[in-house]
Amino acid sequence: MTRVTLVDVFKHRITQKYLQRSGINHAVTVAGYAFDLAVKNEVDPNLATKSALLHDMGHYEWYRDGKWDYDEYRKHDIHAIKGAERAHKLLIRLGEDRLVAKEVSVAVLLHTDSYLNFDLDNKRTPLQYVVAEADRIDEQPNGLHHYKQMDKSDALKILHRLDLKIDKVLENDEKKMSS
Ligand SMILES: [Fe+2]
Repeated sequence: MTRVTLVDVFKHRITQKYLQRSGINHAVTVAGYAFDLAVKNEVDPNLATKSALLHDMGHYEWYRDGKWDYDEYRKHDIHAIKGAERAHKLLIRLGEDRLVAKEVSVAVLLHTDSYLNFDLDNKRTPLQYVVAEADRIDEQPNGLHHYKQMDKSDALKILHRLDLKIDKVLENDEKKMSS
C-alpha cells in the first residue's frame, strides 16, 4: 500500500478548512519537530508527523466581535477531542490504514491534558509523548504560536521535504527488518 503523505493530508479541503484556524505555521513547524523527536525516540515518523500536523485541527473560531479572549477560550476548550474525531475522519477519507488513523487520532486526543482534571505526565506512549513534546516546543504564551504566518506554498515545500525524509527512514527500517 502506498503511504498517505503529509502533502496528501495537507491538500485535502478538510485540512485546509480547519488548519487555517489554528495556524498553518504552527502545524507545519510542530510536524518538523515531531520528525526529529520521532527519530530520536525510535517512534514511527509517519505516525508522529501526521499526528503533529493535525493535532490542533479541533480548534474552533475563537474570535468574538473581532477579539479573542484566550482565557475564556481555554475554559471551554475541547479542541483535542474535536481534533481527534476530525483527524480520524479525514484520514479514513484519504484511504489511510485504519490502525494508523486510530493511532493518530489518539495521539491528537492526548497531545494536551488541559481539558482533563488529571495530568498525562509519564502516561503517554512514546508516540503520544513525541507529539505533545513537539507541540510544547513551538508553544508561545497566550496562544501567540497560532498567529505566526506561513504561505501555503512554503508549507507544501516543507511538508514535501519531510515526506522524503520519512520515506527514507521507513525504507531503512524495512531493510533492517529483512536483513
Ligand atoms: Fe498546538
